[in-house]
Amino acid sequence: MKEEIIKIKEEILDELKRVKESEALAKLETEYLGRKGKLTIFLRQITNLGDEEKQEIGCLANQIKKEMISKFKEVKGVISNVSKDVFVDVTLPGEKSTLGHLHPVTLVQHELEDLFKSMGFMILDGPELESDYYNFEALNIPEHHPARDMQDTFYIEEPGSESGPGEQKRVYAGKKSDMVMRTHTSPMQIRAMLKYGAPLRCVVPGRVFRNEATDAVHEHTLHQIEGLMIDENISITNLIAVLKEMLSGIFNQSITIRVRPGYFPFVEPGLEVDMQCMICGGEKCPSCKNSGWLEMLGSGMIHPNVLRAGGIDPDKYSGFAFGMGIDRLVMMKYKINDIRLFNSGDLRFLRQF
Ligand code: PHE
Repeated sequence: MKEEIIKIKEEILDELKRVKESEALAKLETEYLGRKGKLTIFLRQITNLGDEEKQEIGCLANQIKKEMISKFKEVKGVISNVSKDVFVDVTLPGEKSTLGHLHPVTLVQHELEDLFKSMGFMILDGPELESDYYNFEALNIPEHHPARDMQDTFYIEEPGSESGPGEQKRVYAGKKSDMVMRTHTSPMQIRAMLKYGAPLRCVVPGRVFRNEATDAVHEHTLHQIEGLMIDENISITNLIAVLKEMLSGIFNQSITIRVRPGYFPFVEPGLEVDMQCMICGGEKCPSCKNSGWLEMLGSGMIHPNVLRAGGIDPDKYSGFAFGMGIDRLVMMKYKINDIRLFNSGDLRFLRQF
């Protein structure tokens, strides 16, 4: 009897070593400890033994039963831990992780940067909060010049000065101060000239701000890229060549543009460059204000006064400058008909890029 029960115990321990999953473990448990299990049946037989033997074997059998119950428990714990924490089913399909991505304006800005880098231009960055001097004065727009009204400006209130009513407390138009939210990227023309001198080739992408009501084609916060090329003998032909290279690079196809005279105090002569509307193909739609054309950028030959403000001798050097709205370019490229979508934070819109 004694050998028999020890044999059963060894059998169980042996089987437990081999068991790897909970189903097989449960089966094994019934096989030995269940109502008709081997160990249970054995224990029942003990009652038929003589008193002395009954006590000895009974004691041993009970001890083994207890031992086996706790052994089963132990193995159960190990198996369930394995399946919970460590076991990895490498055949399962992976979980898709949701990664962020770049805003369409940023994507196009990067494309522009690459295009200009390939033409030997530096990429510069400038302050969004700008002084009146760089934003206007040094660009040949003195204080009472009517051209100041070409751009609706957010003037910044100086600390300690009287504030306007309610919401207009911090940033408001009307009361002039020395600091403004830059209305264009052109102040960087001066900063770049002062820092690097001539010859110079650079572009400056960045945010600009206009104090105006929004609609499908107007925003208060938009993006521009300023371009500047200064050297001896730079002329309008260089300007047109670079602009053509840029626009065809962005749209990957030949696009129709037209050039007409335009007025900006910091260039002479000034040029406005229009591009045929790609949403309607020139058929006229709300995005092009029913004209078939979209104003793409302002440009021209840098005014001698501006070169001088940048510390460059206008008798020796000449240069061109241009400033283009990136938002409008993105709208053309992706056929977007409302500029307000860019700042809306609407994921249904953003997820398409
Ligand atoms: N700064 C002008 C604007 O924002 C654009 C411009 C830049 C025009 C450079 C001419 C030369 O409208």
